[in-house]
Amino acid sequence: MPHYPDAMPGSKTLFERARKVMPGGNTRTTVFVDPFPIYAARGEGCRVWDVDGNAYYDCINNFTSMIHGYAHPDVTAAVVEQLPFGTAFGAPTLSEVELAELLVERLPSVDQVRFTNSGTEGVMMAIKAARAFTGRPKIVKIEGAYHGSYDFAEVSLDSSPANWGDLPRSTPYAKGTPRGVLDDVIAVPFNDTEALRAVFAAEGDSIAAVLIDPMPNRAGLIPARRDYLHAMAEIAHAAGALVIFDEVISFRLGWSGAQGLWGIEPDLTALGKIIGGGFPVGAVGGRADVMAVFDPTAGKPALPHGGTFTANPVTMRAGLASMRALTKDSFAHLDCLGASLREGVTASFEKHGLAGQCVGLGSLFKIHFTSHPVTDYRSIYPGQAERKKFDVFHKGLLGRGVLSASYGLFALSTPMTEEDAGAILQAIDETLGDVAAQS
Ligand SMILES: Cc1ncc(COP(=O)(O)O)c(C=O)c1O
Repeated sequence: MPHYPDAMPGSKTLFERARKVMPGGNTRTTVFVDPFPIYAARGEGCRVWDVDGNAYYDCINNFTSMIHGYAHPDVTAAVVEQLPFGTAFGAPTLSEVELAELLVERLPSVDQVRFTNSGTEGVMMAIKAARAFTGRPKIVKIEGAYHGSYDFAEVSLDSSPANWGDLPRSTPYAKGTPRGVLDDVIAVPFNDTEALRAVFAAEGDSIAAVLIDPMPNRAGLIPARRDYLHAMAEIAHAAGALVIFDEVISFRLGWSGAQGLWGIEPDLTALGKIIGGGFPVGAVGGRADVMAVFDPTAGKPALPHGGTFTANPVTMRAGLASMRALTKDSFAHLDCLGASLREGVTASFEKHGLAGQCVGLGSLFKIHFTSHPVTDYRSIYPGQAERKKFDVFHKGLLGRGVLSASYGLFALSTPMTEEDAGAILQAIDETLGDVAAQS
């Protein structure tokens, strides 16, 4: 068993090197682990090996993006085929048309697509498109929901009891967030139709869009209620505002993403992660009349948009191969694995007499070390005792050869078998036993 951190001397050495040339040895806050992260050497299928040769089941999959795990043969072949022909041009290529066609076919709400290099940019362009289309400045978002690093999307991401006050409210995430940003974002509680109605009654004339992830990971991975989403569309549209779904993660929930499962068609959808086949990617798609803000054919568009590496053919080819390999059977397989793990983890909490629960849908699940109902960001906000449990759990799992997010998120991949799921569950069960013993 590769006990963390003692069995990872190679990672420790690399982190020490990294600290000299990167702040905190880190170039991505989300992958930092105290005292040091494990450094990945290679991945294959659902497994990753670190630089010390320790093997892990990867249940984070680059924060949900590697839905086929590593080195899927179709994706590798597509990339290898493209490389000798060039990796990025100052010209469009066939590959972007093909990936756009696939997305338009899978998402009934999406008539047209624009690619970006990250989910952050996909969300940013969706917000800017909503502003350009409506001529209004403000967006409404859910407290605690993560949508990437655009200033406006980051507001109220990590509100705490010290500053959260009564909603609606806007709290800065990064130090130095301009006042104007906070003024133009209204954070509301999740799944609360009346709160949304009240915000629109007060400020509807200046709201461009409501931005929502239908199952927001950082806000608890709790699915939105269908009636809430339908009411959201009604309220927003009545005020002349748009609804933006952030499906950067939730597109992995089904053939047509969360919007397909919930039976709702947002005006705009932000995408990312799985659509790039493991390469940097994002996209915004939506109704043709809204997407027309990007159209340069009649002169300067309402919303100009560029990006040196946008829609580069390596990403597009990898994304296309990966999405084609993601069949309806793949989703059925992932749903099955997810359901059995959620059930097993719930049983494990009970077995160990540990306060906790397991939430999520499809290939995603998340644990909360609390037994009270989890309904929104505030209800899942961990106190000191829960933070300690997450730390013991995360590191205990590392030591048992399972990678997860430090805050209890798990994302499964198509190469995982029932046997793999059984091994993952056993590691989770043993680690929950450790947490119970230390509580
Ligand atoms: C829901 C959601 N939206 C947007 C983003 C930003 O995507 P990226 O990291 O590709 O910029 C993320 C990233 O985790 C996300 O989870």
